[in-house]
Amino acid sequence: MSESINPCPIQLNDQGQLRHFLSTEGLPRTLLTEILDTADSFVDMSAQQVKKVPLLRGKTVVNLFFEASTRTLSTFELAAKRLSADVLNLNISTSSTKKGETLKDTLMTLRAMHSDMFVVRHSDSGAAHFIAQQVTPDVAVINAGDGRHAHPTQAMLDMLTIRRHKGEFEPLKVAIVGDILHSRVARSQIHALRTLGAAEVRVIAPLTLLPRNIESLGVKVFTDMACGLRDVDVVMMLRLQKERMQSALLPSESEFYKLYGLTNDKLAFAHPEAIVMHPGPINRGVEIESAVADGPRSVILDQVTNGIAVRMAVMSMSMSGQLAAQQSAASAEMPNE
Ligand code: NCD
Repeated sequence: MSESINPCPIQLNDQGQLRHFLSTEGLPRTLLTEILDTADSFVDMSAQQVKKVPLLRGKTVVNLFFEASTRTLSTFELAAKRLSADVLNLNISTSSTKKGETLKDTLMTLRAMHSDMFVVRHSDSGAAHFIAQQVTPDVAVINAGDGRHAHPTQAMLDMLTIRRHKGEFEPLKVAIVGDILHSRVARSQIHALRTLGAAEVRVIAPLTLLPRNIESLGVKVFTDMACGLRDVDVVMMLRLQKERMQSALLPSESEFYKLYGLTNDKLAFAHPEAIVMHPGPINRGVEIESAVADGPRSVILDQVTNGIAVRMAVMSMSMSGQLAAQQSAASAEMPNE
């Protein structure tokens, strides 16, 4: 698939700790598991009366959103606040870049404000990676969705939701359904599921919404819901990304719904205890029927709750990976006694 960018070397410090979080691709299983374990402890904490920990006290987090977002932005904001950081939300689509400022100038301005972490959402694939290359070594960058490339915190909150409902990944058959072609979420989910050892990862979509060579990511491809959903433990629905469709890839939304919309009738093909997920925003009657979205098998709202915990985990882990990298750079510069 053409959207592959290998951010692995830049994501980790010399000791293999997370430093930037740009993609789930290429990260070792131990690290993905550490993110889930850390997030688990934050889920429990968020249910308590006092929801704050001082892990990012004195740090400034800038949410740099070049593309509209509601749940991702608000859960990143809450996550940073629960870690005691100072948070600045910048909606760049309505500010300086509209006045002609380049991305590099925006970054330098923010750097002059002594920001410690950038959470970046951008419509271009590779934007977060580019920013991670531009910032000074003491700034961490978290990708909150770049073009069609990656949405790693969404994938990890999905993994956390699966693990909390289903336990270990090894026995699980998982189906990802819908607009795979335009989905950064699907790419990040596939990499995470494969690394965490899920038994089978399937994609189900019309041929027009499947990227070429998707099989090379280790997934089984289906164009039919009855076959694709058979016995799966997890159904992960995707939104139709109409804003990214350059030409008519579908006859109509109602035709898509008839063939691929998740109704209780189609869900009956899956394992009787299968859970249903969707990253949101959901289009009822297009990708999913309300009876399923609001039904007993839906874990869509758990995904939102788990999103805060996962974002707290990657923010705190990348900040400590960043500090460890600085300490080892400083000790390497110390003259020998
Ligand atoms: C996803 C995104 O922005 O990529 N949504 C989200 O992060 N909540 C999926 C989507 O927009 O369809």
